[in-house]
Amino acid sequence: MQDVRQCSLNLNYWWTVAHLKNFPHSGIKAAKVGTIELVVVKANSSYSVFEDACPHKRVRLSQFGRRVGNKLVCSYHGWKFAPSGQCTDIPGMDMQKQFCLKSYPVKEYGGGPVGVFRR
Ligand code: FES
Repeated sequence: MQDVRQCSLNLNYWWTVAHLKNFPHSGIKAAKVGTIELVVVKANSSYSVFEDACPHKRVRLSQFGRRVGNKLVCSYHGWKFAPSGQCTDIPGMDMQKQFCLKSYPVKEYGGGPVGVFRR
C-alpha cells in the first residue's frame, strides 16, 4: 500500500494556494502545491502565481522579491517581471525579452480562497 503523502499530485486540477483573509500587506506570499514552490502576488485586486525562483540565480522571490505596481521585482539584481511572467526590465541590459518567470493560471473564488492554479 502506498502512503498518501508519497502520491504525486495531479496538477490538472485547481489547487488552493492562498486565502484572501491572511494575505500580507506586501502583496507577496509563498505557497506550495505538492513539491512545487510558488509565489503568489497580489496587485490591486488581481493575483498572479509564479514559480518561486528568479530565472537569474534561482533566488526565492517570496523572500527576496517585492511588488512594484503590478510587477514583481527581484531585490537581488532588480529584474522586473510582468503578471504574465515576462521579464520587462534588467537594469543596465537590453536582453529582458529572453527571460521569463514560469507563471500559472490563477482564479479567485467568491472572496474566500484567493488563488488556485492549474498547470
Ligand atoms: S537573482 Fe534575481 S535578478 Fe539576479
